[in-house]
Amino acid sequence: MNTELIVVLDMDTKKEALSAVAACDVCSWFKIGAQLFTRLGPSIVHDVRKKGKQVFLDLKYHDIPNTVAHAAKAAADLGAGLITLHASGGHAMIEAARVAVEGSETRILAVTILTSLNEAALQHELGLSETPAEAVRRLAQLAVDSGAHGIVCSPRELDVLRTTLGDEPLIVTPGVRPDWATQDDQKRVMTPREAAQSGASMIVVGRPILKHPDPGHAAAMILEEIQP
Ligand code: C5P
Repeated sequence: MNTELIVVLDMDTKKEALSAVAACDVCSWFKIGAQLFTRLGPSIVHDVRKKGKQVFLDLKYHDIPNTVAHAAKAAADLGAGLITLHASGGHAMIEAARVAVEGSETRILAVTILTSLNEAALQHELGLSETPAEAVRRLAQLAVDSGAHGIVCSPRELDVLRTTLGDEPLIVTPGVRPDWATQDDQKRVMTPREAAQSGASMIVVGRPILKHPDPGHAAAMILEEIQP
């Protein structure tokens, strides 16, 4: 499988974001999340697209189907190649988003259980009786059955989800750290090569690239590592 690298643009300003894009010109994909999008709005998506890059717009939609469908259509109109929604929004919401992006290049990824939620939070706060792993599998299957093109998951779920979902769905994973980088606040990491070998379609990497003295070189080393 050809695994792609997505560079995270978690910053506050256009200057920082576009200088990261320029430094990582060797990469095709950049992730714009709630932080940068809330600061700068759709213009930053246009700016990154104008550099010839693909945008993963990671806004994790979760609302009634009609609202999510219109948001998904708006993201597709903006030229986002990938967008996210919460699988826990349910079948009708995911299906409505899928219908809304038909005819565009936009692909929908579903987030299952946030990795910040542990078993105690699932049980006592969300009222779920499943373990996180069981909930992740169930929601990933629901998402794909409802029309999502893929899912976002942690590296430690890659093996089981690739087996459960088969070869077709996109599986995108953050929590990736090359041997030469620090773990930062990521707890259970995998190297780029391990993630690629475990079936990741795309890996999402931020700080190991952005905090490297030479971000372009860091990105090139990761790309080299994930070559099949
Ligand atoms: O800097 P780092 O490589 O840790 O960045 C990872 C990116 O992936 C961040 O944008 C973070 O919000 C996102 N992410 C994550 N873990 C998840 C879901 C998303 O690290 N479970």
